[in-house]
Amino acid sequence: MAAHTSTGRFADKVAVITGAGSGLGRECARWWAEEGASIVVTDLVDKRAHDVAQAISDTGGVAIGMKVDVTIEAEVEAAVRAAVDTYGRLDIMFANAGVPVDGFGTIPFEEFTEAQFDAVNAVVYKGVFFSGKHAARVMKPQGFGNIVVTTSAGGLNAYPGFGPYCSAKAGAIALVKSMAFDLGRWGIRVNGLAPAHGMAVNFALPSDAEVNGMSYEEAALAESGLAWDARSMFPGPLKLNRPPRLRDNAGVATFLASDDSEYMSGVVIPSCDGGNFARTSIPFPDDWSLEDQA
Ligand SMILES: NC(=O)c1ccc[n+]([C@@H]2O[C@H](COP(=O)([O-])OP(=O)(O)OC[C@H]3O[C@@H](n4cnc5c(N)ncnc54)[C@H](O)[C@@H]3O)[C@@H](O)[C@H]2O)c1
Repeated sequence: MAAHTSTGRFADKVAVITGAGSGLGRECARWWAEEGASIVVTDLVDKRAHDVAQAISDTGGVAIGMKVDVTIEAEVEAAVRAAVDTYGRLDIMFANAGVPVDGFGTIPFEEFTEAQFDAVNAVVYKGVFFSGKHAARVMKPQGFGNIVVTTSAGGLNAYPGFGPYCSAKAGAIALVKSMAFDLGRWGIRVNGLAPAHGMAVNFALPSDAEVNGMSYEEAALAESGLAWDARSMFPGPLKLNRPPRLRDNAGVATFLASDDSEYMSGVVIPSCDGGNFARTSIPFPDDWSLEDQA
């Protein structure tokens, strides 16, 4: 894990995080615990949830681990109840769990089955609905609360071969806005992040794979032995001298989960897009010049 400088910005905060056994959810669980939060660490994979909670406890933090499948409403409700029963309230619901569409971009659009469409929607769309619904049931009577949703750049623009995932993420983005509007008068705010780069390579691996904490870019470098070359390797115009990493996305989630964004609601931030969204699809190479065309 990256070393974080603790500011205690989550002192006395209670958070439920879904999909917290790996990737972005794990990064945030560990970070927010270091900053003083008490965390209900949940994941579909029971061992992952308990491993993360144990690691937090071992380093002096406060956490419990729970198996929660976000496609099962009663399990999401139980996670929220565990936060209230164990820590007294719920400040932050981080609806983060997600799965890719079957085939990871290799299945032609017209070949997707109904079951494949439903499977991805159940997690990344309906799971956000269940998470927001049960958080709201506790947050409304509290008179405060903060819901953060991990959507995706794929919910704003197409990922090739990911149609059912992209539409589900677009649904999650609409839920962010709907919840922000419907819940705001009870002191509840709702925002999302839409990651593109720097995300977990575990997302593309089976659920029994070891959680390695690396982004795709970091993993590709480790496997190839190549040095980072942003000009040739990174699709965005922003050329930094290091690969994008989970921490880059976790920083945006942390901003949304903290009081630093206290007056924001209904906003979805493209986190770690590298400037990619600033351009059209006209494929001019970076070194294109008019003179060369003469
Ligand atoms: N990795 C990417 O390419 C990428 C890009 C943009 C957005 N996202 C989104 O980011 C979020 C976090 O993903 P990540 O990149 O950290 O991947 P990850 O696979 O490392 O972590 C996701 C976790 O969610 C868990 N999970 C899967 N199905 C679940 C379910 N039904 N209920 C509860 N937990 C479940 C997994 O076991 C895993 O531990 C997801 O919403 C994902 O869609 C990922």
